Parts: sequence; C-alpha cells; structure tokens
Amino acid sequence: MTVTSQCPVSQGIPVLDADPFAAECLEDPLPFQQQLRDAGPVAYLSKYGVYAIGRFAELSEALSNWQGLISGAGVGIRDLDAPKGLLQTDPPLHDAPREVLQEILSARALRAMKETCMTRVTDLLHEHLSDAPKGATVEIDGLTQIAHVLPVDFFPDASGIDESARDKFVDFADHNFNTAGPYNDLVKAGECKAPELASWMAQKCQRDALRPDGFGADIWAAADRGDILHENAALLASSLIAAGVDTTIYGIAGMLYALATNPEQWELVKKNPSLARVAFDEALRWSSPVQAMLRKSSVDLQIGGVVIPAGQKVLMCYPAANRDPRRWENPDNFDVTRDPSGHLAFGMGVHQCVGQHAARLQAACLLEQLIERVDTIELVGEVKYHHNNVLRGWSSVPRRFTLK
Ligand code: HEM
Repeated sequence: MTVTSQCPVSQGIPVLDADPFAAECLEDPLPFQQQLRDAGPVAYLSKYGVYAIGRFAELSEALSNWQGLISGAGVGIRDLDAPKGLLQTDPPLHDAPREVLQEILSARALRAMKETCMTRVTDLLHEHLSDAPKGATVEIDGLTQIAHVLPVDFFPDASGIDESARDKFVDFADHNFNTAGPYNDLVKAGECKAPELASWMAQKCQRDALRPDGFGADIWAAADRGDILHENAALLASSLIAAGVDTTIYGIAGMLYALATNPEQWELVKKNPSLARVAFDEALRWSSPVQAMLRKSSVDLQIGGVVIPAGQKVLMCYPAANRDPRRWENPDNFDVTRDPSGHLAFGMGVHQCVGQHAARLQAACLLEQLIERVDTIELVGEVKYHHNNVLRGWSSVPRRFTLK
C-alpha cells in the first residue's frame, strides 16, 4: 500500500492534543480513554507524535498483528536504548524464550504452588485478623498491608530469589514501566537509582544467587538444555519480576477497591465462591493495571479504515478497549455476573501476559480466604493513586473488614 501523505489529518485521522501522561490524566485516566474511543478507531496524539488505539475491535486486531506492529523497537514512546527483554523482541527471536516461560509458568505448574500460596495468604490474614472476634471490624490498608505482600513475597520466593531487600522490586519495576512513557519527571525521579537497582536485580538472577527449586533456576536449566542462550537467562528471570510484581499488586488493589465500592457484588461472590475467578478478571477489565504499551508500524498499515504509515509509534490503550461500549454492555459497571473473558488487561497475541496464571493464583488464594473470613468490605478513607506512566498505580486503599 502506498501512502501519499504522512499527515494524519489528510488521512482522516483525528488529532488529539490530550496528554495521557500528564499528572491529571494519571490521577483520573477515564476522560482521556473516552475521548480516545470517541475520536475514532485510530487517533493521533499531537503532543508526542504517536498514533493511539482505544476501541476494542481495532485494538484486538492491532495486538494480533505482530508483523505489522512490532515490539522489537521497544514498547515505549522512545525507541529502545536498554537490553531487550521478552517483551521487546519479535518472532522468531521471541519464540524460544517465550516457550520456556510458558512452560515454567503454565497453569499446571502454578496449580502445584497453590498450597504454598494459600499458606502465605492464611499467615497474612492471620497477622491482621487473628485477635479480632467474630463480627468485629478491622481497618487495613488494602494496598500496603494486603495487595503488596504476595507479589513481593510469595512470587519472588517461587522464583527462588533470596529474601533481602525485596521492597526494591517495586521500585525497580516502577522505573522500568515509567520508561515506556515520555521522558518526564516520573522518569527523571527514578533515574538516579536505576543503574544501582538494575545491577542489584541482575545479580539476584545469576545462577549462583538463585535457589535450585524456583522459576529462576528453571530458566537457567533451559539455558543448559540449549533452549535459550546462557547470556539471556538472567535477563529473562529478572523480566518476571519487572513484569510481574507491580502489575499484580495493582491488579489485586483494583480488585479490592472494586469489591469495596460495589458491596452487592461482594455479596454475590460470598454466596457463590465459584465467582472468584470471574471477580478477578472482571476487576482487571474494569481497572486495567497496564494502561498502555506501544508498538512500531513496520509497514503502512490499515486499521479501522485508516492508514498508519510505516515507522510510527502506536499506543495500545488497553483500559479504553476494556470499557468500550461497542464490546461491553454497561462497561463502567463492575459486574461479576458478566463474562469478562477476552478482556485485554493481559494483552493479546504473541505477547499476551505469560504470567497470568501466577497473578490469578495469588488473587484466587486471597479471595478464597476473604470469602471464608470476611463479611463486609468497605472503603474508609481516601484512595490514593501512585502515578506511573503506563500503570494504574495505587498507594493507599484504606478499608474496613467486618469479620464473619
Ligand atoms: C494482574 C497482573 C498482570 C497484568 C495486568 C499483566 C499485564 C500484561 C500485559 C498487558 C502484557 C502484554 C504487554 C504487551 O502487549 O506489550 C504482559 C506481558 C507479560 N507479562 Fe504480565 N501482567 C500481570 C502479571 C504478570 C506476572 C505475575 C508475570 C510473571 C510471572 C508477568 C510477566 C509478563 C511477561 C514476561 C510478559 C511479556 C510476554 C511476552 O512478551 O511474550 N505478568 N503482561
């Protein structure tokens, strides 16, 4: 296909001057998402010179087209200047490491970890609820005291990473995600610590530093078998932490917020515990912890009746698609009776989240215990958001549990 002009206007593409990375948008991203969906199947964000997609059908099509929309130039606004992890490679380079992680993090492998995860959740709730009698109320911060704990504790344990200074995982991942956005104050604030955190993380993922029975050691074993290169093993192991810690924290925080602000939905889950899995997926659809990733067009590309020229960065706005009324009935309602499958909170296509079973396991164990022990969940103070260029972050979700 030949494109006669690079100008988005002459191609019939709406131009938006909205800034999805501005502080007010990170505080409340919903108005931008609606503007993007309403503008058309594809829009152009003039402030950054990137295209953006926010409707479900077109985003699904774009995410499935890894040949036309590549990740190898980086999945941020700027082209890549860091080592390439799984997320920033395209097939065929992507295939072998992806297969290795898919096997290590399969539903079957994660099912085998359920007992360990459940023990950790039981201990966690015991810590907060043990002294309280039946019917008592207990105030707990859903972010710092609950959502934070499993991803920085259970998951690194499962990966075989030693126990020291695990809170640093959150900062490491936070900065990594920030760098997918523009070079703004959030990126600058993380820059001074970034080299130290990166080498600390790399050291933790060396073969000798890992326990022999975790996911990390499994990755090194795959290198020994020749499935991946030895020089990529530590990077692959650290990409699990980079991709899996903050996302799961915010996924669980979003779920607890959804349940606290929709008490009738919590009643439904309590009455029918088999809804627990749907509750987590519906919360992910509703709150979308990953707000955006980018691709680069490798060819002139037709999407939604318009042409995106080759060589352009394209922003994939998952949360906008997850609330697209063309796809979802009453999309702004958190509704555990709907079927949320097919939501894009875990992405789609060759890069679809390889750690989703690990995230689901942690949420399922937590919900199972909450259903058993907690009668009502209420919000008791102001929710505070943590700004990150591409994550829907939370820093405080104060809540009150009434115990059964
Ligand atoms: C609720 C929690 C999580 C959410 C919402 C989430 C979301 C996502 C999304 C949207 C992508 C695709 C990005 C793209 O298309 O460019 C992705 C990929 C990925 N995720 Fe997750 N994730 C979560 C948890 C995890 C966990 C626990 C792990 C590690 C165990 C993990 C590891 C990865 C990796 C390695 C990739 C890259 C896959 C590839 O490129 O083939 N994620 N995730």
